[in-house]
Amino acid sequence: MEAPSSSSSSQCSYEDYKETADWLKAHTEQRPKVAIICGSGLGGLADLLSDKTVVPYKDIPRFPISTVPGHAGQLVFGKLQGRECVCMQGRFHFYEGYNIHTVTYPVRVFFLLGVKTLIVTNAAGGLNGSYDVGDIMLIKDHINMPGFAGQNPLCGHNDERFGVRFPCMSDAYDLELRALAKQTAKEQGCNSFLQEGVYCMLAGPTYETIAECRLLQTLGADAVGMSTVPEVVAARHCGLRVLGLSLITNKVVADYDSNEKANHEEVLRTTQRRTQDIQRLVSHLITKI
Ligand code: HPA
Repeated sequence: MEAPSSSSSSQCSYEDYKETADWLKAHTEQRPKVAIICGSGLGGLADLLSDKTVVPYKDIPRFPISTVPGHAGQLVFGKLQGRECVCMQGRFHFYEGYNIHTVTYPVRVFFLLGVKTLIVTNAAGGLNGSYDVGDIMLIKDHINMPGFAGQNPLCGHNDERFGVRFPCMSDAYDLELRALAKQTAKEQGCNSFLQEGVYCMLAGPTYETIAECRLLQTLGADAVGMSTVPEVVAARHCGLRVLGLSLITNKVVADYDSNEKANHEEVLRTTQRRTQDIQRLVSHLITKI
């Protein structure tokens, strides 16, 4: 009898991931130990790399293709401050209609390429009333809302070559990397707008209602967004260390008297304003990893 889970049908096999990784190994001699997933409007980091090999997603066997405007849709291998890394310029969001296994496909490919550390960046709405627009939040923990609803990338058959059936998530965001990030933020003059908090992922693409924002605040979330958590879950499953950075692009509307409305234009404006700070932070941090 077939496995009962509908999600198992969308799963990829170890051989699929390996085919992609082997193809990439044949296309670049670079063997990065650090992968960076660039969030909305934060793909400029990849442009800073030297000795670049750029591989459009559409050319990579079995790789998904990005559909969001502002996401370039390519892997960029190269050196950031002399350190080899690979950047995803454009990530895959659940709200685009990808299944949750597809969203995390690149993470397992990175693992098979020999990557040991994953840096994820995203744009997020600030739920914590003390946060300002433009703050950078080090993610110390997450709330996996799609996971609560059965959309966890590890649902379905577990391949032990990636990791254990029931992985721990209480240590998802590496303490040592967070300490390095704090130290780097101080050195780079980013300390005054650095925060540390809990990221909550919702599936999107709708922004939150006022009641939903209040619920998330009650739950202890400091920022809300539509990405990152599936990739982090897949990365921790296969033993990658993770650093997560959320750029607080807007304050959520949690007040029935407010005339403010969440909108994508504000998100993009804030990412433009802070993109250089994030780039500076990540590129100096990477030399310490
Ligand atoms: N909500 C959800 N996702 C987001 C937001 C928000 O307010 N801002 C940027 N991404």
